[in-house]
Amino acid sequence: MAVNNIESESEARIYGFTRRASAVLTHFICIVFSLFIALMSRPGTSLFSWHPFLMTLAFSFFMTEAVLIFSPHGSPIKGFSHKTKSRVHWILQCLCVSCAVLGLAAIFSNKHLNSKPHFTSWHGLLGLLTVCVVALQSLAAVPLIYHSLAKGWSLAKLKRYHAASGLITYLLGSMSLLLGLCSAWFTASVKDYNWYLSALCPAVSALMIMNQVTSAYMAKKRLKA
Ligand code: HEM
Repeated sequence: MAVNNIESESEARIYGFTRRASAVLTHFICIVFSLFIALMSRPGTSLFSWHPFLMTLAFSFFMTEAVLIFSPHGSPIKGFSHKTKSRVHWILQCLCVSCAVLGLAAIFSNKHLNSKPHFTSWHGLLGLLTVCVVALQSLAAVPLIYHSLAKGWSLAKLKRYHAASGLITYLLGSMSLLLGLCSAWFTASVKDYNWYLSALCPAVSALMIMNQVTSAYMAKKRLKA
C-alpha cells in the first residue's frame, strides 16, 4: 500500500512537471515566434510589413496568452480569481481582434495600392475567414459578461460553446499563420531548417492549446458524470 502511494505520488509529480514545462514552452514559443516575425518584417518599413507583424501579434501572441491565462499549470496570473483571469482574457482577446483587423486592413490596402487582385491564395481566403470568425467569436462572447443578453441559455452552456468555438478559431488562426509562412515573401528569406523551425511554432502551440482546452472540458464532464 505504502509503495503504491509513493509510486502514485512520484507519477503525479512527473505529470505535474511535464504539464508545467509544456505551458512554459508554449509561452516561450509564442513570444519568440512573434519576435522573430517582427525581426523579419521590420514593421514600419513598408505598408506590407505591418501585415505579418500584426497578424502574428494577434494570433500567436495575444490569442495564445489569452487562452494560457486559464492554464492550471502555466497561467502567468495563477493565484488570481477566475473573475480577474476572465477580465485579462477578454482584454487580450480585444487586442487580438484589433491587431487582426489592422493587419487585414494593411494587406488589403497594400494590394489595392498595387492594383493586385484580392483573396486569390488559400492563405488569403482562410485568413479572411479567420478574421471574420475571430470577430464573430468575440461578439458572441459578450453574453458571457452580460448574461441577460442570452435569455434561455445557461452560463455553463454558453461557456462550453465559447470554449469549443474558441478552439476552432485558434486552429483557424494557426492554419492561417502556417499558410502565411508558405508565402513567397517568407520562403524567399527563410529556408531549410529555419523554415521548419518557424512552422513548428504555430503547430506546437496549437497542439498545446488543444490539449489545455479539451482537458478542461473533459474534467468538467467527469465532474458532472
Ligand atoms: C493568422 C494570421 C494571418 C491572417 C489571418 C492573414 C490574412 C491574410 C489575408 C486575408 C490576405 C489576403 C488579403 C487580400 O487579398 O486582400 C493575406 C495576404 C498575405 N499574407 Fe497573411 N495573414 C496572416 C498571417 C501572415 C503571416 C504570418 C505572413 C508572413 C509570414 C503573411 C503573409 C502574407 C502575404 C505575403 C500575403 C500576400 C499574398 C497572398 O494574398 O497570399 N500572412 N493574409
